[in-house]
Amino acid sequence: MSFFAVEQAPARLNRSELAVPGSQPQMFEKAAQSDADVIFLDLEDAVAPDEKEQARRNIIQALNEVDWGSKTMSIRINGLDTHYMYRDVVDIVEQAGERLDLIMIPKVGTAADVYAVDMMVTQIEDAKGYKKRIGFEHIIETALGMQNVNEIASASKRNESLHFGVADYAASTRARTTIIGGVNPDYSVLTDPANDGSRDVHWGDMWHYALARMVVAARANGLRPIDGPFGDFQDPDGYRAAARRAAVLGCEGKWAIHPSQIALANGVMSPSDAEVTKAHRILEAMAEAEAAGRGAVSLDGRLIDYASIRQAEVMVEKSRQIAAG
Ligand code: GLV
Ligand code: MG
Repeated sequence: MSFFAVEQAPARLNRSELAVPGSQPQMFEKAAQSDADVIFLDLEDAVAPDEKEQARRNIIQALNEVDWGSKTMSIRINGLDTHYMYRDVVDIVEQAGERLDLIMIPKVGTAADVYAVDMMVTQIEDAKGYKKRIGFEHIIETALGMQNVNEIASASKRNESLHFGVADYAASTRARTTIIGGVNPDYSVLTDPANDGSRDVHWGDMWHYALARMVVAARANGLRPIDGPFGDFQDPDGYRAAARRAAVLGCEGKWAIHPSQIALANGVMSPSDAEVTKAHRILEAMAEAEAAGRGAVSLDGRLIDYASIRQAEVMVEKSRQIAAG
């Protein structure tokens, strides 16, 4: 390991993150009863300009009055380039800050954006005498945000997670997309002709680079990488495929923009019983190897070593969090 210690953000279950428009208070109770690990009440892109103020009032009331149980509660504030954002922070943190766990900052572009919100939240928390510190989630969804993702990830002690906002990212980079978070047949490889002249088309994942880059920035700073929305909520298979790809790269959660996507995210982002059992067996085998003075052994015909211990520990810790959740 490097001598540089990476401080880890507070451990929270973040398999599913449900988006709920602040302008739709009739959805709040159902969201509170759902199996989502995290809920963000939205003031930004799901809310029309003339509904912003009412949405803010709805959110303040709901944070104070709805029984959200043990859910992690977040608000997505408006962008720093709008005139809504300062009131989102001031009114909601002042009037409902005790039940707020996280603030989600959309379209974050530079470390200074994070600094500005940190300064405001710190003043409000101090003035109100809050004991708990509100954490930050950042949506990486612009070319600027992706360019500065490393600095953003390390810009505040409040940082907890980075989210890949694929819809705005596509708009910002002018990517050609079909549906939010979906794939594009143009992003494919045409194989050379086989002996019989036939050729195959292999679809590729056009989001791979962006997601992988964000995952590295998040993990190098002890933050959770979370995959963003998948727009077609009538395509559970497409959602699962996108979530699996994100999980393979290291993401530990995915947004749900529709309640039906919560179970899909929780399913993909929870280790299976077989994976957890295997992780326990790796830890046992390595403990025996160590006792016998060996650093690597084989299990089920495969080599395992100290790196396997770290992977197995991550798996076991995740299953412990889920059981406690
Ligand atoms: C989320 O905000 C996105 O733009 O995908
Ligand atoms: Mg967005």
